[in-house]
Amino acid sequence: MNKVTKGPQTWLYPLPALLIGAMVDGKPNFMTAAWGSIANAEPPMLSVAIRRSRHTRSGIEPGGTFSVNIPSVSQAREVDYCGIESGSKTDKVERCGFTVFYGELETAPLIEQCPVNLECVVQHIIELGTHSLVVADIKQTHISEDCLTDGALDVAKVDPLIYLTSPMRKYVQSGVPVGGAFSLGLDLK
Ligand SMILES: Cc1cc2nc3c(=O)[nH]c(=O)nc-3n(C[C@H](O)[C@H](O)[C@H](O)COP(=O)(O)O)c2cc1C
Repeated sequence: MNKVTKGPQTWLYPLPALLIGAMVDGKPNFMTAAWGSIANAEPPMLSVAIRRSRHTRSGIEPGGTFSVNIPSVSQAREVDYCGIESGSKTDKVERCGFTVFYGELETAPLIEQCPVNLECVVQHIIELGTHSLVVADIKQTHISEDCLTDGALDVAKVDPLIYLTSPMRKYVQSGVPVGGAFSLGLDLK
């Protein structure tokens, strides 16, 4: 097969569209981030790459707290808005009509309308070229009751918003099931 080279690109697809929440100057603020990932199993940890200029970044310090809120497809407009407007200029909570609540940590603002909310404590901040890679413990997970089936998280009900980074820069809905993970490849083992 013929290939063309495109140089170093941050082309990982797809990515989750997340709303990162932090207290900045005593007020809850949320920014959109798609460069987030699971980072560790035990203890449960995640990472998110946040550009240093973000207003939200100034509320995220080592030992401090923040939140990761997983929005549904139905919240795409608000997600996009939180990614094109800064909390340094406007109150995004008010503009989006978010209902903010606080969990165990008491200092990580959570969005009631998002079906999944993770409360996080910052463990490491690794300064890279343009972004700070924030690595954090996940201390608590909140799920909207209507996104459960028989008590378990039902991702189909969450209906997460997926982001395709450049050059597409588009939101999409999660896809068609292909097969069971850790089982589809068993016959090749
Ligand atoms: C789909 C999408 C994904 C984004 N992902 C990130 C990201 O992973 N990291 C980042 O620093 N900024 C990201 N941004 C940009 C910030 O969300 C944006 O600059 C926002 O206005 C920052 O808000 P703040 O200044 O209130 O913190 C993204 C924006 C969009 C629309």
